[in-house]
Amino acid sequence: MHELLALLSDGAFHSGERLGALLGVSRSAVWKRLLLLEESTGLRIHKVRGKGYRLEQPLVLLDSERLSRELPYPVRVLTEVDSTNAEALRYLAVGQVNQPMLFVAEQQTAGRGRRGRSWVSPYGVNLYFSLLLPVSDSSRLEGLSLLVGLAVRRALVACGYPSVELKWPNDLLLSGGKVAGILLELAGDPADGCHVVVGIGINVNMQGAKAGIDQAWTALIGAAERPVDRNLILIAVANALHELLTADSAGRFAAYRDEWEGAHAWQGRKVCLSTGPQSVYGIVLGVDDRGALRLMCDGVERVYSGGELSLRLSDDS
Ligand code: BTN
Repeated sequence: MHELLALLSDGAFHSGERLGALLGVSRSAVWKRLLLLEESTGLRIHKVRGKGYRLEQPLVLLDSERLSRELPYPVRVLTEVDSTNAEALRYLAVGQVNQPMLFVAEQQTAGRGRRGRSWVSPYGVNLYFSLLLPVSDSSRLEGLSLLVGLAVRRALVACGYPSVELKWPNDLLLSGGKVAGILLELAGDPADGCHVVVGIGINVNMQGAKAGIDQAWTALIGAAERPVDRNLILIAVANALHELLTADSAGRFAAYRDEWEGAHAWQGRKVCLSTGPQSVYGIVLGVDDRGALRLMCDGVERVYSGGELSLRLSDDS
């Protein structure tokens, strides 16, 4: 199946005869495989009499060999998984993990987002990956999710997207739309050596309307026609993460606070913070040394942290 997809990935027409010859199977076997491919990946394949078959959108597939060579972490490249975060947690449950390990998938069937949301994860289009990290010093968890956002931003800027901004706590925005999200999940007791799964989803080549997304989103590809190479983006992000997590100041968000605030999309803006059923209005002052949000509310500074909080611009901002 992967071989057939690789042949079609350029988005050009390929005749059934040629595909059959390259795969060493009959034209009717090609036809059956194409149906299976559509069913298992959700990708649309156009069939035009006299021309053959082509993918609706060209793809750059994940390249396991290149990733194994160029990533700073050992990697597992999966074709399909429920969630790379769930996969990392399952991996942890059956063995000792003393070194960071990366899991990346072409497709997630049950990608998870923050606050119980799902993360739309179509085949071969975007990046879905999780870094499983052993944590020996629980103080390193403070501000970690903001630090991860900063690493993703650094990488995207270096890859040619200088206007990527951060939104507290750890969303990444491009032209006002969400381009990437981060979900940290903890396993074990922080007081006694634990692991954290850093899950990152980046909208890379997704275009058009997408069912299941209830917020403004965008993708790196924008209106371009050629797909962005996801391998390149993944390598850049993993290297930026590796650099930030192993630096002398690793685990001390305070050292990166100025850089983070400098890239914060809503610095100084009037916002509404939802804390479950309640909403708090205030002006964003920035973040503190632990990555908590500092808001000026009716002349009083208040500080907020926690995974269940969500921020939006106030209607009169
Ligand atoms: C958010 O809601 O903003 C966080 C989205 C995180 C999505 C990524 S995709 C890879 C990893 N696996 C998951 O199931 N979720 C994260």
